[in-house]
Amino acid sequence: MAQTESFEFGAVGGVPVPGFVLRNALGVAVSVTALGARIVRLGMPDALGRAADVVLGFDSPQDYLASDAYMGATCGRYGGRIRGSAFALDGEVHRLSRNEGAHHAHGGRDGFDRKIWDAAGDAAAGEAVFTLDSPDGEEGYPGAVSASVAYRLDDLGTLAIDMRARSDRATVVNLVHHTYWNLAGHDSGSILGHRLELDADFVTPVDESLVPTGEVLRVDGTPFDFREGKPIGRDLALVATAAGGYDHNFCVRGEAGRLRRVAALADPASGRALELHSDASGVQVYTGGHFKVAAKGKGGARYRQYAGVALETQAFPDAPNLSHFPGVRLDAGCEYRHRMRIRLHHVTEDGR
Ligand code: BGC
Repeated sequence: MAQTESFEFGAVGGVPVPGFVLRNALGVAVSVTALGARIVRLGMPDALGRAADVVLGFDSPQDYLASDAYMGATCGRYGGRIRGSAFALDGEVHRLSRNEGAHHAHGGRDGFDRKIWDAAGDAAAGEAVFTLDSPDGEEGYPGAVSASVAYRLDDLGTLAIDMRARSDRATVVNLVHHTYWNLAGHDSGSILGHRLELDADFVTPVDESLVPTGEVLRVDGTPFDFREGKPIGRDLALVATAAGGYDHNFCVRGEAGRLRRVAALADPASGRALELHSDASGVQVYTGGHFKVAAKGKGGARYRQYAGVALETQAFPDAPNLSHFPGVRLDAGCEYRHRMRIRLHHVTEDGR
């Protein structure tokens, strides 16, 4: 039976930051904290039982607050970019804080990733739940929003992340989980040799500022075709983003709102692998192109370019301004839900 223990993840302004470790019978240990309702550590054995921490991160709340990488965090209210830091809803224009040139990214200057959420752990259920109230007008968004994120680990090796939100008036919500994976170990170097498979036939191209142009492109014959699975590095040089590498939203095959497979990631060297299922319409694949100046991470680890890959299931970026993208409106009285199921396992003989 999976179990939950509590710990303190440092302090902010003299107030201790609560944390929980979820452990299961397979030796997986997931540490989550109230700062940004985030994962700070994920210990996972390889096929021979040797454990490694497979998520990038920092040792203290202060290091997270000083970083713009959103490592392990829950981004909100709207994860991803909103062009021109504005959108219209029911004829009213809402102006959001600008934190990326003219654009708004990952919820703005003081987004959900920087908040200390209320925390509760359920020792017997292997669960930790974080809740946050965001007042009307925060970062420019309409409506008072209550959000929650529940992390639950089971003994078969599946980590469930359940995100929910409600608002007291019409608004937009897109909660995005931002873990960077490196299945060889967070401090092992690059993920370019990881094998990635994506259940996506279409991608949404971006302009030079990384905001979707509104086009929806077939992946056939492009570097974005991960349908059969390939090493992340194989076609990466062909993807011309400013920072280098992938930083794109893929349209997940099948019906949004239903759990279905999104991605499979495997490290052939350690044999560690994961399969990601979600009910979201898209997934942002970000290969850490910005980590050019090595950031000092956990235990003094140096994170260089391509040190981790984020698989951010989400609504499409800039959907509040692009009416042909799947809707992101949340009305009063309705519930927003976003579910992720991450099955941690080891590769079988065919390398998957
Ligand atoms: C974005 C990247 C950004 C990173 C850290 C990702 O979700 O797509 O462009 O650099 O988050 O902010």
